[in-house]
This record gives sequence, C-alpha cells and structure tokens, in this order.
Amino acid sequence: GVVEAARGRDLAGVRLAVSAGGTREALDPVRYLTNASSGRMGLAVARAASLRGAEVTVVAAAICAPVPSGVDVVQVESTSDLAAAMASLAPTSDVIVMAAAPADYTPAQRSELKLKKNGDAGLMVEFNQTTDVLAALVRARPAGQVIVGFAAETAANPDELLALGRAKLARKGCDLLVLNDASGGAVFGSADNAVTILDPSGVLAQASGAKNLIAHRILDAVVHLKGSTR
Ligand code: CTP
Repeated sequence: GVVEAARGRDLAGVRLAVSAGGTREALDPVRYLTNASSGRMGLAVARAASLRGAEVTVVAAAICAPVPSGVDVVQVESTSDLAAAMASLAPTSDVIVMAAAPADYTPAQRSELKLKKNGDAGLMVEFNQTTDVLAALVRARPAGQVIVGFAAETAANPDELLALGRAKLARKGCDLLVLNDASGGAVFGSADNAVTILDPSGVLAQASGAKNLIAHRILDAVVHLKGSTR
C-alpha cells in the first residue's frame, strides 16, 4: 500500500528474526500452560519487514493468525525450544525482534502419561523458571546487531507505566523496547494496539492503531538506529 511505497525497500539485505506467539509448557501429553498472546504483533513485524525487503524468519510459538507469505518459519513449542531456535538464528541476524510471550515458568515435572484424578483431591504443581531468551540474546549480541524487546505492563497511571518500561529496558539491555499497556486485558488478540517505543535515552515514538502500522513504526526506529550506528 501507500505506507510501504513511501518507505521503499529500506531493509533490503537485512536479516531479521522475529519471535511470535505464546509458548506452551507441557504438564502431560495433553495439557499445557500458556498465555493469551495471539502472535499478531510479531506476525505484523514479519510482514512489514518482508515488504521493506528484509529476509525474515518467524520463530512461531502458538499463533492465532497465518504467517505472511514470503517469510521462513520455525515452529516451536516451549520457551526452551524458543531459546534454542533464537540462539541458532542470532549469529546470522542483523535484527532480532522478541515479540513472543514466552512462559516464565515450566512444570518441574512432565508426566509421560496423562495425569489421572486422585479421588477428589486437588493438584499441586511445582514450576521452575524458564530461561530469559531476550537477556541471553543480549549477552551474546554481535557488534551492530539491533535487538528489540517488548513489554506488556499493567500500571496505575501512564507515568508508572513508563517507569516500568524504562526499568525493563535497562534490565534487559536491549536497544529498543516496545511498551504496551496491558491493563484490562487490552492488547492480546486484538488487531489494534497502542505502544510507546523506548530507547535508553527515553521515549522515541508513540504509535497507536493497527498492528500492521505499529510494526512499521517499530521498523522505522530500527532503521533509524542502524543508520545512526553505522
Ligand atoms: N522474554 C524472553 N524470555 C522470557 C520472558 C520474556 O525473552 N522467558 C522477552 C519477551 O519476548 C519480551 C521481553 O522479554 O520481549 C519482556 O517480557 P516480559 O514478560 O515483560 O519480561 P519479564 O522478564 O518476564 O519481566 P517481569 O519481571 O515483568 O516478569
């Protein structure tokens, strides 16, 4: 469309890996822990980057929308699978976008057989924390690679939301952080979104509307950053 034509192919030759969707952590062969991520934001980034000329690989956890044509796909299930897929793509990626919602906890034990009810007793499940994929990517980052993280936060007001975003950007060490207000369950599954794009010096941009348009705003920030560090 018009938006694409205006930007041209400013990501030509750029290899971009984007994760999308919620991971699934298995409890037994038929049950798992997951979250409300639809994968739409990551898929929108994949589509927008591909239209701008990037070579795109989507690392797809559970997603509720189709993968755009013309991009490579690696299917993953758990946060551990996602970590492995991203680690293998990272050395050859110029840009990494962590739009997935990896589960932070995984059952300490996975039953090979379907769990059976035990009379009318409840169920206690122990969870272990998963690896922080984004933090690991940042630690292994080659020179010049741009890493984009996401944060869906709930806060009492916009100032607190921004403070949480800035703290997360600093903690994770990524180049850009796309901050969502997740209060009231907004964001997940919707075609629309409202985000604040942060870099270490503060608010870089704000965008609201269709996730496809927000994806272009995020990529504008990436292009800007690549241009300024080259
Ligand atoms: N992320 C990740 N690995 C995880 C959890 C999150 O790579 N195990 C990434 C997400 O893809 C996102 C960013 O980290 O880009 C922020 O996710 P979020 O869940 O907000 O971060 P947490 O580290 O889980 O922060 P919190 O302390 O708020 O739980």
